Amino acid sequence: MKPESHIASTSDRVRGVINRLIEKGSMIADADGSKHDVRTVSISPREGEALSEWVVRENASRTIEIGLAYGFSALYLCDGLIRSGDPAARHVVLDPFQAGRFANCGLQVLEEAGVSSLFEYHDQMSQLALPAFLEEGRRFDLAFVDGNHRFDAVFLDLFYLGRLLPRGGVVLVDDYNLPGIRRAVSFFLTNLDWRIEEKSELDDEHHWVALRTAIADDNRHFRYFVEF
Ligand SMILES: C[S@@+](CC[C@H](N)C(=O)[O-])C[C@H]1O[C@@H](n2cnc3c(N)ncnc32)[C@H](O)[C@@H]1O
Repeated sequence: MKPESHIASTSDRVRGVINRLIEKGSMIADADGSKHDVRTVSISPREGEALSEWVVRENASRTIEIGLAYGFSALYLCDGLIRSGDPAARHVVLDPFQAGRFANCGLQVLEEAGVSSLFEYHDQMSQLALPAFLEEGRRFDLAFVDGNHRFDAVFLDLFYLGRLLPRGGVVLVDDYNLPGIRRAVSFFLTNLDWRIEEKSELDDEHHWVALRTAIADDNRHFRYFVEF
């Protein structure tokens, strides 16, 4: 475990960047000088606090996030890892559009927050990266899904995350108000014994859920199917 003073100062630096993004609502990309409104795609601060708390509550030290954008959710997840205190903690981030669409702003804010040694970025679609991680034998303690948002992509994300996390692991999913996402989650709830552990208040922008993956073995008969 890291000394408490080190944890506090590292967390303060991350919080400083989060607060600046909240106050200004925009940032300039070092890569090309372009100005970006970070609020357009980012989660709300309330959701960020929930993500950070889930990391601490689960004592997670290996987290994975699908969809970096401006790094807002990544900052909260890294803050949770810092507060969990494992010096070997690691946050893996997937986003194939970071350079093209976001002028590397997400990577920029993570560097500013001093968490370069904590995160690992992959310029890849989650639907390709997750099966490759599985093949490599990688494992994670907690996941956050906020990437492609379409039913089929989210279904695949959840399918692979269910194998990359331990039984009873936590997967947080943003935009649960979207029908495609709700339907994808529904399969795992109805057919695979996943559970909803927490649901956000339904506000107009973001609705998120915390899912707990199945604890028991998957012993379904091949004819077993529940409409979802
Ligand atoms: C809503 S934004 C994420 C916002 C971020 N979680 C935050 O609150 O700071 C969605 C992100 O997912 C990325 N994305 C889209 N399709 C993806 C995929 N197949 N795999 C990984 N990331 C993807 C986009 O480039 C975008 O950065």
